Amino acid sequence: MRVLASAPAKIILFGEHSVVYGKPAIAAAIDLRTYVWAEFNDRGAIKIEAKDIRVPGLTVSFSEDEIYFESDYGKAAEVLSYVRQAIELVREEADANGKGITVSITSQIPVGAGLGSSAAVAVATIGAVSKLLGLELTNEEIGKLGHRVELLVQGASSGIDPTVSAIGGFIHYEKGNFEHLPFMELPIVVGYTGSSGSTKELVAMVRRTYEEMPEVIEPVLIAMGKIVEKAREVITSDLDDEIRFVQLGRLMNINHGLLDALGVSTKKLSELVYAARVAGAIGAKITGAGGGGCMYALAPENQSEVATAITIAGGTPMITRISREGLRIEEVLP
Ligand code: MEV
Repeated sequence: MRVLASAPAKIILFGEHSVVYGKPAIAAAIDLRTYVWAEFNDRGAIKIEAKDIRVPGLTVSFSEDEIYFESDYGKAAEVLSYVRQAIELVREEADANGKGITVSITSQIPVGAGLGSSAAVAVATIGAVSKLLGLELTNEEIGKLGHRVELLVQGASSGIDPTVSAIGGFIHYEKGNFEHLPFMELPIVVGYTGSSGSTKELVAMVRRTYEEMPEVIEPVLIAMGKIVEKAREVITSDLDDEIRFVQLGRLMNINHGLLDALGVSTKKLSELVYAARVAGAIGAKITGAGGGGCMYALAPENQSEVATAITIAGGTPMITRISREGLRIEEVLP
């Protein structure tokens, strides 16, 4: 039997980092996907193959045996650890610890770009392997297992990335609970800096600052939570799109300023954010953990001008759509 599952990337619209401290956040799945095939092998071992994993600057293909000897493939090795943990967790859940499983991954999502590539890989792997082992899990349960994988590999995680990847659409997330928001077409442009940030390191860096000066950082996190609640109010209101976009754009700009204050922006991220605003975007901010990775801009009137401005500033623009669908079982072959 062979199973193919796929799971989407995400963007965090508002509330990254503060969500790790129990504040709310809003995220959406986007139409870039990771595909995972799973099948049994008779070696009793876990075998992982990855093709065309996009790491900034290069595209790598690897199999598990090679990766241990290729230290340059640091980011690919990180992908490997999410996949391995995901398989081990599902084998444990299914009481199938000795079963040999081979997974083969292809992904359209750049690694370390803040677009949730690790979560998508974990969710698609859990989806494919659980189906292979006959476990009937809901997408919500798969999102929760994805959160456990992130906690094991990353140390700290709010669980928002695997939840939105498993569930899809537009969600409001707080302390492990999610709620779908009314679907809204958002005319956005994502700008990729071309360099990657480590979510694990960035979350740990914010934690250190928080522990050193909680009286300074706590109000920043509270303000971020308030931005999210205001954004939710705007999204669920029946105001015209034009007014809603202007208000959301303003909130994005404030949220970006606060993320910069936490130290997770970079020169390049800020350059792309300002280039987008100068080209007419109503709002622009980091999306995801920062430290490189991506920003996004809201540009209802002028997506292509904003995309050009991002290119001129040295980034790679991606005009993307929100994906209503989360984890999908694509094929089950006997
Ligand atoms: C990463 O996409 C979002 C962070 O808030 C981490 C997390 O929520 O687990 C930085």
